[in-house]
Amino acid sequence: MNGFLKQRFGFIWLVLFLAACQSDAAAITEDTVLLSNVEDGIIAYEDLVVGYSQIGAESEWRTGNTASIKEAAENLGVELIFSDGQQKQENQIKAIRTFIAQQVDVIGVSPVVETGWDSVFQEAKDAGIPIILVDRRADVPEDLYTTYLGSDFVEEGRNAARVMVDLLGGEGDIVELVGTVGSAPAIDRYEGFREIIQDYPGMRIIASQSGDFTRAKGEEVMGDFLQLYGDEIDAVYAHNDDMAIGAIQAIEAYGLKPGEDIKIVSIDAIRDAFQAMIDGKLNATIECNPLLGPQFFELALKVVNGEVVPKWIPSEEEIFFPEDAEEVLPTRKY
Ligand code: AHR
Repeated sequence: MNGFLKQRFGFIWLVLFLAACQSDAAAITEDTVLLSNVEDGIIAYEDLVVGYSQIGAESEWRTGNTASIKEAAENLGVELIFSDGQQKQENQIKAIRTFIAQQVDVIGVSPVVETGWDSVFQEAKDAGIPIILVDRRADVPEDLYTTYLGSDFVEEGRNAARVMVDLLGGEGDIVELVGTVGSAPAIDRYEGFREIIQDYPGMRIIASQSGDFTRAKGEEVMGDFLQLYGDEIDAVYAHNDDMAIGAIQAIEAYGLKPGEDIKIVSIDAIRDAFQAMIDGKLNATIECNPLLGPQFFELALKVVNGEVVPKWIPSEEEIFFPEDAEEVLPTRKY
């Protein structure tokens, strides 16, 4: 909000305060003030100053997500102060503190890990700056953030398991490439997968290790799994496509055929995953939508204008198989 608007805000407060003093209109509340702003159309996209703390650039998914946030800000005329946390929570916390000092209108944050946000979110709350969680949840009391915009990661894990059960006919030895340790998608995708698998005694998870959501780490960890278990491995469950693509490289280097000798199911639905399915090297990808920019700024605008928004706005997501890949690839934006 620029200086002029802040002044106007102050003026509206004063008028309402005086009105409350003169009449018995004891019901004038902060909500009333905010609603009057909506009617006056005071806060528009061009008036918004938004601080955004991004995790980093660990995956294609993340690159698509960052592009979506930046493009939407530009298209809508929102002033965006963007910070890249380079996978470190301390960098994200520092960025949020800077946004508070800059008195931005709204802070968007995609927390790299789930825990450790209480103090800084409380600081934002004390400064009257709403926090919108984007893509990943934080494990904090509900009053410390306004809303969460993002996927149901547990359901993504369940869907990956359902597909895996079909692929293996309910029996097989699976290795798991886990996302960043302590992150919401790694925790939830781990749990969701097991929720389904536990009903199939013939399906065993024989190894599970973090590949940190990157291709390089996915390849390295899969290489270690192959050294340990070799062709005992029937399938790979990767928490994202980038790690699955790393695993494909490791399986080929080991002399086996990814997608045939070892089935692979992963999450995200990035363009490279569609290419891998066309090449017969990946058996399915569960979509996780990163194109959250337009929805995020729409929410930010509603929030500063005092509208009540749901505590969670879930993304709509699909499951893609090799037979769809050729047709769908040209339509993919990330
Ligand atoms: O939080 C979403 C996850 O983060 C994506 O699935 C993964 O690719 C990214 O790094």
